[in-house]
Amino acid sequence: MKKHAQALMEMKGRTPIAMLTAYTCPVARAVERASIPVILVGDTVGMVEMGFESTRYVTIDHMTYHVGAVRRGAPETHIIGDLPYLTDKDPDTALWNARRLIAAGADSVKLEGAKTEVIRHLVDNGIAVVGHTGLTPQTAKSFTKVGRTEQEARQVLEDAIAIQEAGAFMIVLEHIPYDLGATLTDTLGIPTIGIGAGPDCDGQVLVINDALGLGDYWPPFSKQYAHVSRTILQVAEDFAGEVASREFPNNIIAFPGSGKA
Ligand code: KIV
Repeated sequence: MKKHAQALMEMKGRTPIAMLTAYTCPVARAVERASIPVILVGDTVGMVEMGFESTRYVTIDHMTYHVGAVRRGAPETHIIGDLPYLTDKDPDTALWNARRLIAAGADSVKLEGAKTEVIRHLVDNGIAVVGHTGLTPQTAKSFTKVGRTEQEARQVLEDAIAIQEAGAFMIVLEHIPYDLGATLTDTLGIPTIGIGAGPDCDGQVLVINDALGLGDYWPPFSKQYAHVSRTILQVAEDFAGEVASREFPNNIIAFPGSGKA
C-alpha cells in the first residue's frame, strides 16, 4: 500500500527508510516489487541517463515524462518528483511546476536549498515537499563535500532547520561529514535521508544507475550492487558476433517473461 507523507514521517526513529531513484517504467516496477517505499525521480536523470554535464539542463518537460513512466511502473509506491533548476525560482513558478509533477504522477516534490518562501507556498497549497541540503548540485560550484568547516556546518544546520520549519516532511542530506549527518538527524523532527551523509540518517538514497553499476563514473559514497555496464557490453558483443556468424536468430532461447509463445 502506498505510503503518504505522514506515514513516511512516522518511520523516523522506527524503520530505516530505503529510497532509490528511478527514471523508467521497468526499473520502477522492479523497485516496487522489492517493497522500497519511496522512489525519487531525481534530476540526476539529466546526468546519468541523458548525457548532460549538469542537472541544470533538465527541464520540467523532461521531469514530467520520467515521473509518468515511473508512475506507470510503480502505481503503489510514493514517488517524489524533483523540481529542476530554476523551476522553483519563486513561489508561484514553483507551484505551477510542482502541480505539473503531481499531475504526471508524483506524490510529493523535492527542491534544493533553503527556499523557505517557496516551500511554505507549496505546503499551503497542499503539496508535500521534500527538502535537500548539503551538496546541492543545481547550484554547487564543485561536487566536493559540504560542511567540513565549522561555518559551513553551521550553515547546513541552519538551512535544514529552516527547511523543516517551512513545512518540508522529509529532507535529503547530500555529501556532508558523517557526524553532521548524525547531528542533523538528532536535531530534526523530520526524517533525514542521506546520500554520502553517513549511517546515522533515518534513511538512505542511492541513484539507481550507481547501484546498478550502469555508466562509467560512480561517486565514492555510492555502492555498486551489480555491474550492468559490463553486462550490456557483453550482450552487445555476443549479439554482434552471432549476427556475423549467422547463429542468431536460429539459436533463440525463450526466457520466462520474454513474452514468446
Ligand atoms: O536528483 C537526484 O537524484 C537527487 C539525489 C542525488 C538525492 O537529488
